[in-house]
Amino acid sequence: MKRTSLISELREIIAQEKGRGRQIALVPTMGYLHRGHLSLIEQAKQTGAFIVLSIFVNPLQFGPNEDYSRYPRDLERDARLVEEAGVDALFHPTTEEMYPRPMVTYVEVGQLDSMLCGANRPGHFRGVATVVSKLFHIVQPDLAFFGQKDYQQYLIIQRMVSDLNLPVKVCPVSIVREEDGLALSSRNVFLTPEQRMEAVILSKSLNEAERLIQAGGQSTREIEKLLRERITRESQGVIDYVEVRDAEDLSEVTDIIRPVVMALAVRFGSTRLIDNKVVEV
Ligand code: PAF
Repeated sequence: MKRTSLISELREIIAQEKGRGRQIALVPTMGYLHRGHLSLIEQAKQTGAFIVLSIFVNPLQFGPNEDYSRYPRDLERDARLVEEAGVDALFHPTTEEMYPRPMVTYVEVGQLDSMLCGANRPGHFRGVATVVSKLFHIVQPDLAFFGQKDYQQYLIIQRMVSDLNLPVKVCPVSIVREEDGLALSSRNVFLTPEQRMEAVILSKSLNEAERLIQAGGQSTREIEKLLRERITRESQGVIDYVEVRDAEDLSEVTDIIRPVVMALAVRFGSTRLIDNKVVEV
């Protein structure tokens, strides 16, 4: 596996591979990798492309009171994992390499970025869209892989690519869960044993709500109410949001007659977890 923290070196590696006629697949991450990231790599491998995995904890997408400084990091462990998983090149730039000067140029994906996670994390998706756009320009991938646990992020990147005619195919990858249903996240390490047990209520209540929707007759308000009640009754989690939205554009829906996404964010102590489920009707 090739490994570099320099944009210029990565560009040389990629130019060589493109010269050999290889497609390039990008797996952008913030590191502290888990099985969810490994499934992104797995999907990327199936395309036969040359796989570039980036690890960069992007300061631009963290608010002033968020967990940028305590976000878990372990580059050497990550490097071992991605080498074993079959990644071809690991790109782990420093903050100075990515942002040598204070940024004055940003990518903003309007509408989609101000609801759900965007409502409580102003500037978050601007930071995500900007860094992903930078990575797309640096790597010039044919394909890029994003986990559906960050469903809103996936839709925002897809919209950015479409609006700006970026020549990259955005490939969604399903959520990977622990055996008891908890969605894998680098932030799960911050949960106390008690919070870890309680956090199972997120996927449990989403499953229950899905069964109700499939059985028919429920409005989005009733589903949201059920989810809120289940989470507050069975855990000490503090709800940031629980919303049922159109699965394609996150617009508000009243009756569930098209595919919807049930999306939620809940704080367990100082750890904020997100989860979602798309329901086809
Ligand atoms: O999903 C993430 O890990 C990050 O938001 C991403 C896409 C790597 C951008 O920093």
